[in-house]
Amino acid sequence: MESIPFDEIDASLISDQDFYFLLLASASFVEITTDLYTRNLIEYFHGDDPLQAWLENQWLPEEIQHGKALRRYVMTVWPSFDWETAYRHFYDDYEQYCKTELLGPTRGLEMAARCIVETGTSSLYTMLYRASPEPVLRDLARRIRTDEAYHYQYFHQAFLHYRAVESLPRRSVFKTLIRRVREIDSEDAYFAFKHAYLARYGTFDESAYRSFNREIRQLARRHYPYRMAVHMGIKPLDLPKTVNKATESILRVTAKHLLS
Ligand SMILES: [Fe+2]
Ligand SMILES: [Fe+2]
Repeated sequence: MESIPFDEIDASLISDQDFYFLLLASASFVEITTDLYTRNLIEYFHGDDPLQAWLENQWLPEEIQHGKALRRYVMTVWPSFDWETAYRHFYDDYEQYCKTELLGPTRGLEMAARCIVETGTSSLYTMLYRASPEPVLRDLARRIRTDEAYHYQYFHQAFLHYRAVESLPRRSVFKTLIRRVREIDSEDAYFAFKHAYLARYGTFDESAYRSFNREIRQLARRHYPYRMAVHMGIKPLDLPKTVNKATESILRVTAKHLLS
């Protein structure tokens, strides 16, 4: 937190762009709440002391720190936004809805699913880094992206370990990856957006969320790191080199097509 020059933020470059307000406020809510839905992940690895220690002492504090840094950014650029109140409303709403995450079904497959989650965050912050209209935000996004990519690497290492222990067939890894990709448009993002929006405009309806998603897709078309996301996303399948190359190109084209 100390190395981010919050006092050098040039608010005039971004403060009139509501899209960024909504994106960053939502992201701060979700990141700062990581411990609400990850307690059971840490418990799930009972007996694997190094992994548990890393989750507890490095991964979780880093995710929360992402939330705090984003919060500070948002409060600096949009000082009239009452972050605490909006966050409390988000938390109350989401806590009731948020079920304990279903983990597994094996430790190896859970690690494969985590690779997808970190692929999602790494590419989101890469997109933000590329698109940011304001230099300090660009710097912040780059730093968070580095953390997320490191999380990915750590989870991928753990995945390789458990894949060997459990003799996981590629087919079950594939199923897990697909399942996790399908879950990506999740409730946490929706509730976070809803409460950021409510706090700013006083009312909320579904069409606001739809148009926000349209804007995200527009941004993604220009700035989303498709190559990186696809590469990371299918890495756990460990496909033979030639198949992997072909699959990556097909997926990249498909993803771009879906976004248009
Ligand atoms: Fe994060
Ligand atoms: Fe992460």
